[in-house]
Amino acid sequence: MARRKIALIGAGNIGGELASLVARNELGDVVLKDIPEKADFARGKALDLMQNGAVLGYDARITGTGDWADIAGSDVIIITAGLPRKPGMSREDLLSVNLKIITDVAAGVKANAPDAFVIIISNPLDAMVYAFQKLSGLATNRVVGMAGILDSARLRAFVAEAAGVSVKDVHAMVLGGHGDDMVPLLRYSSVSGVPLEKFLEKDRLDAIVKRTRGGGGEVLKLMGTSAYYAPASAAVEMAKSYLRDQKHVFPCAAYLNGEYGVKGLFLGVPARIGKEGVEKVIELSLTAEERAMLEKSIASVRNTVAETKL
Ligand code: APR
Repeated sequence: MARRKIALIGAGNIGGELASLVARNELGDVVLKDIPEKADFARGKALDLMQNGAVLGYDARITGTGDWADIAGSDVIIITAGLPRKPGMSREDLLSVNLKIITDVAAGVKANAPDAFVIIISNPLDAMVYAFQKLSGLATNRVVGMAGILDSARLRAFVAEAAGVSVKDVHAMVLGGHGDDMVPLLRYSSVSGVPLEKFLEKDRLDAIVKRTRGGGGEVLKLMGTSAYYAPASAAVEMAKSYLRDQKHVFPCAAYLNGEYGVKGLFLGVPARIGKEGVEKVIELSLTAEERAMLEKSIASVRNTVAETKL
């Protein structure tokens, strides 16, 4: 069988880590695409990663390019093109500059790889996914945003550390937009099926929810730029579930057509990812308090989406 082709749009911090993970997982050949002015940067990164394959022992052809034609025939496209935040910025502050970039990217994908499954990481996430789908015209089940796996991974890591348990046993669900009013759902989170309250007092859990909401900002403040290891791993898990038809249920920014009372928006919800792309959105029953938090998050996403004027 021919190798799969994975195009990574944006060869920066997340793009490089994505290429490394895609190659190590032997998901297919990798094209690292950046703007023409940074084509040599992308080529250099690709060469380094290809030589890394000789050391680590993976079979993957990795190339860098500034030319859209090179993404033709891609099975999966992961988009990180765009500016990352600087300390003190919110994700929404990136809207106008990243909207221009996603407009360019949507045209490139539409013209060269309209059959790909597309995972978006660029921020502000929910609005970027919306804009990309509108502008590219790709089917809504073939476009998805990566945020929920990352947000729930942050919650899981904090719970594991506080409770003194293996992070592998901690399961967590986060709903809503990828902003500071995301909705960590403790009722749907557990340590091996055991409710979190058995391990941690309410005030500890409240502090963990707060830290999860600001989890991206915490890394940003320390590093001076956005996180990239965990975001890349999360997107690669989504790509793998699609390419291998694993049918994992992940929290991710999926298109809603009436689910959760929302129509025509992409929002963080649990969704099944398999060979058809986003195959199913799972609706959770919510308490009045959870519903109110979700409504607040939906309103923020709607506001940002409205600013795209699409
Ligand atoms: N086409 C392709 N690549 C582009 C385009 C474009 N039109 N515009 C910008 N890029 C490239 C930049 O040249 C840069 O190499 O996107 C890359 C982004 O890389 P970084 O600046 O290192 O940013 P990164 O940390 O990877 O984050 C990218 O993901 O999580 C989000 O908020 C984050 O929006 C940001 C994005």
